[in-house]
Formats: sequence, C-alpha cells, structure tokens
Amino acid sequence: MSTTAGPKPRILVAEDEPELLEIISFFIESEFNAEVVIAEDGEKAKAILEKDSNFQIVVSDYNMPKLTGGGLLLYVRKAHPNIKFILVSAVNPKSVQEFKISSPDAIVEKPQFNDPLKDAIQKFLTTKEETIESEDYIRVAISQLARLGTVNYALYAKLSENKFLKVLHENEFFGTEELSRFHAKKINYLYIDRENGKSLFKILLDKYLQNFQNTNFTPVDLITTCDEISTAIHDMAAGFGFSEELETITKIGVDMALKTISSDPNLRALLENVNIASGNYLAIHSSRLPYLANHIAKMMGWDSDSTAYKMALASLLHDSTLHNPIHAKYENESDLVNASAELSKKDYDDFVGHTKRSAELVVQFKGIPPDVDVIISQHHERCDGTGFPNKLNHVRIAPLSCVFIIAHELLCFYEKTKDQFKIEDFIALRQNDYSAGYFKKILIELALFKLE
Ligand SMILES: [Fe+2]
Ligand SMILES: [Fe+2]
Repeated sequence: MSTTAGPKPRILVAEDEPELLEIISFFIESEFNAEVVIAEDGEKAKAILEKDSNFQIVVSDYNMPKLTGGGLLLYVRKAHPNIKFILVSAVNPKSVQEFKISSPDAIVEKPQFNDPLKDAIQKFLTTKEETIESEDYIRVAISQLARLGTVNYALYAKLSENKFLKVLHENEFFGTEELSRFHAKKINYLYIDRENGKSLFKILLDKYLQNFQNTNFTPVDLITTCDEISTAIHDMAAGFGFSEELETITKIGVDMALKTISSDPNLRALLENVNIASGNYLAIHSSRLPYLANHIAKMMGWDSDSTAYKMALASLLHDSTLHNPIHAKYENESDLVNASAELSKKDYDDFVGHTKRSAELVVQFKGIPPDVDVIISQHHERCDGTGFPNKLNHVRIAPLSCVFIIAHELLCFYEKTKDQFKIEDFIALRQNDYSAGYFKKILIELALFKLE
C-alpha cells in the first residue's frame, strides 16, 4: 500500500465571530499543512465557492447572518458534492430543519472543538489523499452497501485499472443519501480488499437469509429483491468465483424468481418495474430473463417445473463472471468493439470468455441439472453459426438454449425499444437469421407473443 502526496489541501472556514474565525483558521493552519481561506458569513462562503470550488473541506458555523450553516450545507451538497462539510457549532443538530435533508459529514461541538475538529479534518484529508495500487480489490455495488447501513470496512473508488482511492472509512454510515450522492456522480460500484470482501458478503448473505423468511412479499417486493440478489450474485461470482455463499444466495435468487413466475405476474409490468435506483443494468437484465425464457418455453409447450428452474438458474448466472458488468449490454464481439472507444485486450478476452467461465462456475453447484451449463455456455451462439465462442449452428445448439438465446435477444430488444416495443418488429428483424430448426419454430410461435 502506498500513499501519494498531493498538492496542499485547501479548507474554507465560515464563521461570523471574527475572533473565533481567527482561532479556527490558525488552529487548522498550525495542525495541518493546509491552505485556509476565510469567509465572514455563509453568503460570503457561498460566493467564494461559486468562483473557486477547489476545496476539500468546508468548516462552518451554523448561526450566521444572511445564510446559515444549514443553507451553506445544502448549497455544497448540490453544487460541490465532493467537498466534505464539518459543522462547528453549539446548535443541537436534531433541531435543524436542513439537516433532515442532508447531514454534515462531521459535527464538532463548541466551545471545546480543538481535538474533535482535528480528528475530523484528519479523517477527510486522509480520505482524499490515500490511494492504493493493487489488483487485489473486488467490486461491490453501492446498492448493497445501502442494505448494510454502517459499513465495517474501508471502500475505494476505482481510478484506473490498478489504482484505487479510499472514499469510505471503516464503520462509516452508508444510507440512501450516500447512495444518491454516488449515483449522481455515476458511481455504481466501489471496491474492497478481497479478505474484507469475503466478510462483507457473509454479512450481506445473512441479511438476505433473514429477509427471505418474509412470506408476505408483494410481486414488486419479489422483483426488487431479485434485482438486489442478482447484484450480489454477480459481485460475488466476479470477485471470488465459486463459493458456498454464492451457491446459497443463488438458490435464494432462483426461489424468488420461481415464486414470481408461479404467482403468474403480468409480463409487461415485470419488465417495466425496474428499480432504477440500483442503476445496475446487469442485475436487471439477469433478473428479468427467467420470465421471458419461461414465457417462450410455455408457448412451445415445454414448460415444466424443471425447465423453470433451469431457466432461472441460467439467467442469474449466465453473465455472472463478466468483470465489467456493463458489457452485459453487448450481444456479440463487434457490438462491444464498436461501442468501446478504448477497449483493452483484457476486457475483450474477459467478454469473449464469459460464457465458458460462467458455465464452469455453475457445474460446481451441488445437484444442478446438466442442461444449465449447456444453456449458459451457448447463450451467445447463433442460428447461422456466427455466434461465439464456438460458432455452433442451429443443428448443434440445444433446444432449451434456443429458447434462452431468443429470450435473451428479445429482452435486449425490449430494453432498446421500451414503449415502442412491438413483437412484429422483433420478428421482422430476426426473420432471415432464424431460418432453420428450433429458431424458426420459436419465431413462428412468437407471432402470438403478448406482453401481458
Ligand atoms: Fe452474455
Ligand atoms: Fe446476458
């Protein structure tokens, strides 16, 4: 682990009592090698930030004329979400209306502020400067962290392939507000040390097991829980490969999917009821697939409990070993290459190899039916032999794989067209490709497909 020395940190101090402003500024300058800028009230602090946002921390009083510390906090959260906000005040934070919308990152009580203020600044400056270089970090979707509340482990944002920046300290709280803040920055995943990751996923699994005891799930609860379980499965599979925990949570996910299927839900509602907050394409893609695959199997007269089980398991795991979850959007190598401005060989190989890796993963599960690994390994093969990795044509692709492949393509088509979705458009698009074998038969049946 290495620590990089950056430029001098900059801290803005807002305080309307001149003496105190001087004491706080002097204290920070003498304790830290920091550049301190002062503001005599909240409004002046805001004006400074509007012109110059290069600060790591704002240290602010609450009771100030013109703009209070509460107003300043809300402005900082909205306009400069990367800047940490430390409140130094005698005010009772529970009585402050603005703090119900957003709380300061740290609250230091007056008048004995020295040591607590030093600790808070130290913590945030360390957060800003500490970067590590390692490959041994695994991803965790931030929606999972929000399930935990207080997170016992340090978490990092990924800066480049091997460089990570610490953004969450041990035992920091992670709730819906933090979730929205990261989503606003388009960060859906953070990274954790592999060993800590094992413990974190064990805690998560316990939460899911407790949650699973709830028998009063509404269809919406079922599908949103499926999305979250699907996210956990993908992070665990990509991070650790096979483990008993992965097997347990996948089986919970399959049970959830089967419960939803047997409750005979409306297909369109299922597809549309997407938990946007999760921001996780792969999870949503994998948790919707069992319903479409089973719907098509039913149209072919192939539906049974065993088919439903196979489809649900294959759906949850088919893309689980993709290290870059967004690559689940691409149906073949050329889509991936065309859409990626900078595609490393490692990413390309990861994509091309994911069907084989995911199939190898599922065979380690106890007591699974043999076809599941075949479905997974064939999910990017195509009727005319142009798919990957083995360029199998319709003669060599298994019947259930044909159902899965078409369900997968139909889901991708739905995701692209949404409100404009028409089954006739999909059939017209695939007519020439699906010219033989089960592909042709399924396409004929699809003329009767309805999203309800
Ligand atoms: Fe895939
Ligand atoms: Fe997929």
